[in-house]
Amino acid sequence: LVPPKIAGTAGGQIAKDAAGNDVKGSKWISTHKAGDHSLVQGLKGDATYLVVTEKNEIEKFGINAVCTHLGCVVPWNVNENKFMCPCHGSQYNFQGKVVRGPAPLSLALAHTDVVDDVVFLTEWKETDFRTGLNPWWA
Ligand code: FES
Repeated sequence: LVPPKIAGTAGGQIAKDAAGNDVKGSKWISTHKAGDHSLVQGLKGDATYLVVTEKNEIEKFGINAVCTHLGCVVPWNVNENKFMCPCHGSQYNFQGKVVRGPAPLSLALAHTDVVDDVVFLTEWKETDFRTGLNPWWA
């Protein structure tokens, strides 16, 4: 299957919901509140969090849910405002920056773009704004 070629989304992939349907930006925003972190199927099929901003927009980055310790899918804990890995206790802040080990690295990022109301994910190859470092995953 060849992904559709749309400017700005080269090499990108349409985010899919739990049922395998394309994620529509308007519907997502109508069903997910500001601050929400919910999973979609993202690049290479990896579970990826879409984040809803305080302005009720889809955040320009998605957060890969695969723990950088040993690969468990990390749940979002709304009460703690963190990602908390159930496997060995690693924690990541609301942007996926690691704040407690044993995880050695922050969660990977992907770009999100909404094009014609369809949510695309593309690889994040630029500086990781959370650390100022090159992305370890690229
Ligand atoms: Fe997440 Fe070990 S796999 S803390």
